[in-house]
Amino acid sequence: MTGTEKLPLVVLISGSGSNLQAIIDAAQTDLPIDIRAVVSNQPEAFGLERARKAGVETRVLNHRAYPDRESYDQALGDLVESFQPRLVALAGFMRILTPKFVQRFQGRMLNIHPSLLPKYRGLHTHQRVLDAGDREHGASVHFVTEELDGGPLILQVRVPVYPDDDADTLAARVLTQEHIIYPTAIRWIAEGRVALDDGMVYKDGQRLNQPESLCYTADQAV
Ligand code: GRF
Repeated sequence: MTGTEKLPLVVLISGSGSNLQAIIDAAQTDLPIDIRAVVSNQPEAFGLERARKAGVETRVLNHRAYPDRESYDQALGDLVESFQPRLVALAGFMRILTPKFVQRFQGRMLNIHPSLLPKYRGLHTHQRVLDAGDREHGASVHFVTEELDGGPLILQVRVPVYPDDDADTLAARVLTQEHIIYPTAIRWIAEGRVALDDGMVYKDGQRLNQPESLCYTADQAV
């Protein structure tokens, strides 16, 4: 990719879309991406408003209108492909994807997950961290594979857990850091610095044996 080309991106959401907002904000400054569309399975997702406000195309594909997961994912894949993205970013897209859909976008689909994967795959990560008494938590950006929240890791941020935290305070602390690491990982891909090859993540030509990591300091990661 040359300096003037922007990476065509489609973002999939189901809800608030604060990660989408971080991506939009970065694109409006210097992140070299072209957000071709935002697709939601939820008609009421607030992220759709964020996209419209930014002048980004939106589509709603309501899963309730489809008889099964296979037919929904076929339609979703066709819709996403119609925008010819080179990268698909799951940003709070709250659906389990079929293997067929994942294979269709293998190596060009990212997810952000609010935990230090491989710890705490799935839902309710913040409460599970508190229940376990962990002193540290975080978020991860990874390539999507058929294994739920199990794909090759690109970038993580570590966040402290404080004694008086509840799930909401912890979630808020993690979310601010998600807004930093997701655009960062997308940037690496847009700039051709990170890619998936044969199931391995490469960064600047070197195989990543462990994810890159950003440190949390007070209100910002450095
Ligand atoms: C984030 O915590 C993300 O890690 C998870 O879902 C949440 C989405 O939040 N996958 P938002 O819609 O981006 O605000």
